[in-house]
Amino acid sequence: MAHQTVIVLDFGGQYNQLIARRVRECGVYCEVKPYATPLEELRAMEPIGIIFTGGPGSVYLDGAPQVDPAIFTWGTPILGICYGCQLMAHLLGGRVSPAQEGSAREYGKTETCFDTQCTLFRGLPETGITWMSHGDYMEKVPEGFQLTARSAACPSVAIADEARGFYGVQFHPEVNHTRHGTDMLRRFLYDVCHAAGDWTMGDYKRTAVQSLRDKIGAGRVLLALSGGVDSSVAAALLAEAVGEQLTCVFVDHGLMRKNEGDEVEAAFSPWAMNFVRVDASQRFLSRLAGAEEPERKRKIIGEEFIRVFEGEAKKVGAVDYLAQGTIYPDVIESGAGDAAVIKSHHNVGGLPDCVDFKEIVEPLRLLFKDEVRQLGRELGLPEYLVARQPFPGPGLAIRVIGEITRDKLDTLREADAIFREELARAGEDKRLSQFFAALTNMRSVGVMGDGRTYDWAIALRAVTTDDFMTADWARIPYELLDRVSVRIVNEVKGINRVVYDITSKPPATVEFE
Ligand code: XMP
Repeated sequence: MAHQTVIVLDFGGQYNQLIARRVRECGVYCEVKPYATPLEELRAMEPIGIIFTGGPGSVYLDGAPQVDPAIFTWGTPILGICYGCQLMAHLLGGRVSPAQEGSAREYGKTETCFDTQCTLFRGLPETGITWMSHGDYMEKVPEGFQLTARSAACPSVAIADEARGFYGVQFHPEVNHTRHGTDMLRRFLYDVCHAAGDWTMGDYKRTAVQSLRDKIGAGRVLLALSGGVDSSVAAALLAEAVGEQLTCVFVDHGLMRKNEGDEVEAAFSPWAMNFVRVDASQRFLSRLAGAEEPERKRKIIGEEFIRVFEGEAKKVGAVDYLAQGTIYPDVIESGAGDAAVIKSHHNVGGLPDCVDFKEIVEPLRLLFKDEVRQLGRELGLPEYLVARQPFPGPGLAIRVIGEITRDKLDTLREADAIFREELARAGEDKRLSQFFAALTNMRSVGVMGDGRTYDWAIALRAVTTDDFMTADWARIPYELLDRVSVRIVNEVKGINRVVYDITSKPPATVEFE
C-alpha cells in the first residue's frame, strides 16, 4: 500500500534526521531528500507536505543552498524551519539580514510568545520555551504572511500564510528543548497537510524487508551479533528478509552477564538463518591474564574479537555483504571528530577490514534507539532483548576492576544478577537508564558468624540519563539497597561488603573503567 508522504528537504542542518523521526512518531511516512534533488523527482513523490530543514548557510550569500521557487506553485503545504524559514521568506519576496550582535540573533532556550490563532500553535500555551540557533533574521516578511510568534530579541520568530499553507519558524520544533515542538509538527501534519496517520512501525518493517531483498538479491550476508539491541534487531530484520542467506556469528567472549549467552542463542533459534555461537571464553581469558589497566583490557578484547570473528568468517567463506547494526546516533557521534577520547569504546560492529566482502549493509542507519526497540518488537524479538539496557562491548571485563579471573567473573555475575533481580522486583528498573554491579579490587576485613573474613567489595551503580554523555546517580530506596546488600553478602561467596556509588558523570563515568 502506498503511503501519504512528507518530504523533509535537507539544507544541511544538524537535526534533519530528528525532524524525520518526529514525523514518523506522528504516524506519517517521510523521506529526507537533498535540497538539490530535481524538482520533478520530488513532485513525482506526490507529497502531502514538505518541510525545509535548517542549515548552516545564509540565504543571501552566493552559493547558499536554494530550491527552485516553482515548488511554491504546487499547492503543497510547506513548513520552513530555521534556515528553511529564512529561505522561504527570501524566495517569496521578504528580506533576510544578518542580525546585529545582541539583537535578533538567538542561540539556545528562548522564551517565545505565540499567536494561538495560527494553525501551528492552536490550542497550545501562548508562551513557552523554544530552541533557537540562528544568526540571521527576517527583517521583512513576504507579502501574504503574518507574524505569528516573537521573542524579546526578535519580532519575527514565526510567520504564516495560512491561505497557501506556508509556515516558517526560526526555532527548532524537533528538539526536546522546544516545549510542545512535536505538537506544532503534528498541527502542521494533521491540520494543514490533512495527514491520515497511515504509517506504523509495521509498515516500516515491511518496507525495510523489501528493500533489503531488492538490494541483497541472492547474495550472502555476514553479521557479528553481540546480543545488544542494535545487532539483535539488525539480525532479526535480515533474517526476515533473506533467511538462510544470512550467517550471524555470536562471539561469546565469556564476559557476558549471567545467562546472557544462552538467552541470545534461545532468542535466535526460531529464525531460519545460520546462527554460529563461538565459545571463545578460554581464549579471551588467557589473553587477558595479567592485564590490569582498563585501556589495555579494551584493546586486547577488541583485537581478540576481530581475530575470532575473522576465523569464523573464513569458515563461512566469501560473502557479499557485511551487515552492521549501526544506528543513527552512532552516525552522528562518529562524525564528531574532535571530541577527546575518554574511553576507547569498542563496538562489535566495526570490523570491515578483516572480512572479504563487497559492501556494507546497515539497515538501522536512520533509526533512533527507541525506534530500533519498536522495530525489534514488531519483528517478534523477546522483550528481554529489545528492552535491554546498554552493555559495553568489553562486557564484564571493565566491571571487574583490575585483573580478571574466571572466579572473579563468576562472583560478579552472581552479585549483578541479584541487583538486577531486586530492582526489577521493586519496579525500579523501568525508571533507571543503566544499573549494574562491579567487582572492586579492594579487599577488606569483615566478620561473619564468629569468624573474621578478608573478602572483596562489590560496588553497585545505577544512573539516570538521557544521552549517557552526562548522568546522575539514581536515588534508589534504602530498603531496596539493604535487601540487595544482605542478599549479596549472604549468597555470593567471597563478598563481605557492598557499596553504592553516589557519583554523577561528570566527574565520574558510568562504568568504573
Ligand atoms: P561511560 O563509562 O563512558 O559510559 O560513561 C557511557 C555509556 O557507554 C557504555 N560504554 C561502552 N559501550 N563499548 C560500548 O559499546 C565500550 O567500550 C563502552 N564503555 C562504556 C556504558 O555502558 C554507558 O552506557
